[in-house]
Amino acid sequence: MSHDLRRLVYYSRNRIGGAPEAMDGTLRDILAASRANNARVGVTGALMFNAGCFAQVLEGPEAAVETTFERIQQDERHGEVSLLAFEAVEARLFTGWSMAYVGASKADAARYGDMAGESGFDLSRMTGDRLCAVLHGLALEEEAAAA
Ligand SMILES: Cc1cc2nc3c(=O)[nH]c(=O)nc-3n(C[C@H](O)[C@H](O)[C@H](O)COP(=O)(O)O)c2cc1C
Repeated sequence: MSHDLRRLVYYSRNRIGGAPEAMDGTLRDILAASRANNARVGVTGALMFNAGCFAQVLEGPEAAVETTFERIQQDERHGEVSLLAFEAVEARLFTGWSMAYVGASKADAARYGDMAGESGFDLSRMTGDRLCAVLHGLALEEEAAAA
C-alpha cells in the first residue's frame, strides 16, 4: 500500500459555452486527456458534470495529485474552483478508474440535474466525504448498468 496516498475533492463552475454538441466534444477531450495523463502518474478518480458545475475526486500519490490539480485549476474551461477535501487516505475508492465519468445518464440528470441550484443537492453545502461517496455510488451503478 502506498503510504503517501491522498484524496482531493473539489467542485467548480463550467465555463464551456456553445451548443450541446460542442460541449460533448469538449467533455470527451477533457476525459481523454485525463485518462491518459492520470494512468501515467497513478491518479484515479471520478468526474461529474451537471447543470453548469463539475465535481471531481482525484486520488493517488501526493505529488501526482498536486501536480494534476495545479494543471486542472489553470484550465479556463471551468472556474471558481472550491476545494472540499485534500487528505491522507488508507486506500483508493476508484481503483480501476483513471477517470470515471458519472452523472451523465438521464436518470442521474433527473436526480442531480440542478445540483448547483436550489435543489437538495447543493455542492457548497457538501462535505468532501459526502461528495466522494455520491460519485463512488454513481461510478459503481454505472459500471453495473454497462456490464
Ligand atoms: C473539470 C476538469 C477536470 C479535469 N480533470 C483532469 C484530470 O483528472 N487529469 C488531467 O490530466 N487533466 C484534467 N483536466 C484537463 C487539464 O486541465 C489539462 O487540460 C490537461 O491535463 C492537459 O493535458 P495535455 O497536456 O495532455 O493536453 C481537467 C479539466 C477540467 C476542466
